[in-house]
Amino acid sequence: MIAKLFEVRETQNRGKGLFAKDFIPKGTIICFECEKCKVLTGIDPAKMTVKEKEALLDYAYRKKDGSYIAPCDETRYLNHSCNANILGTESGFDIAVMDIKKGEEATYDYRDFYDDLIMQCCCREENCCKEVTFTHPVPAELLKYWNEKTNAALKLVNKVEQPLKEYLKQKSIFLPLDDKLINNQIT
Ligand SMILES: C[S@@+](CC[C@H](N)C(=O)[O-])C[C@H]1O[C@@H](n2cnc3c(N)ncnc32)[C@H](O)[C@@H]1O
Ligand SMILES: [Zn+2]
Ligand SMILES: [Zn+2]
Repeated sequence: MIAKLFEVRETQNRGKGLFAKDFIPKGTIICFECEKCKVLTGIDPAKMTVKEKEALLDYAYRKKDGSYIAPCDETRYLNHSCNANILGTESGFDIAVMDIKKGEEATYDYRDFYDDLIMQCCCREENCCKEVTFTHPVPAELLKYWNEKTNAALKLVNKVEQPLKEYLKQKSIFLPLDDKLINNQIT
């Protein structure tokens, strides 16, 4: 489930994307896997062609445990950026790690996923890696960068309005978060 903060629009170079309807402050919890998100079963990436995997990546992502999740809503339009303004946490939700201006595209860092593809990246960021790989473990430097960003954002969780607050309770995620969750550490 994604907070109702975005509209779906065409991007210049990567199909549809999600654009902020208003200013979204850093620390806003953006989305989480809710009970309506589908867990796709019976998928064996070893038996799939590159084309089939690419098609799958259009609407689903692979998690550490090997399962594929197809989000229930417009979360599926979240494009990748090498300088993403939304990142995953170990707390069961994704969070805005930068302020997102009105009209700006919301992006996630796909290198967090466990697919085994290579995606040519057209994010046009200064730090663009050009070829997104899903290799794990994630390089230590990138991991450090993500952890710094998410930890700083988590410290703001109780200071900004949280549109998903009530829904997060369904996942037994209660705000304010305790210190353990705030000191997020993706490994
Ligand atoms: C989950 S979908 C995102 C929504 C997609 N743009 C659409 O219109 O359905 C993921 C797909 O978007 C494209 N995409 C997302 N970010 C990209 C990027 N930085 N560079 C190139 N393609 C990207 C790739 O085709 C990828 O398989
Ligand atoms: Zn959902
Ligand atoms: Zn890039």
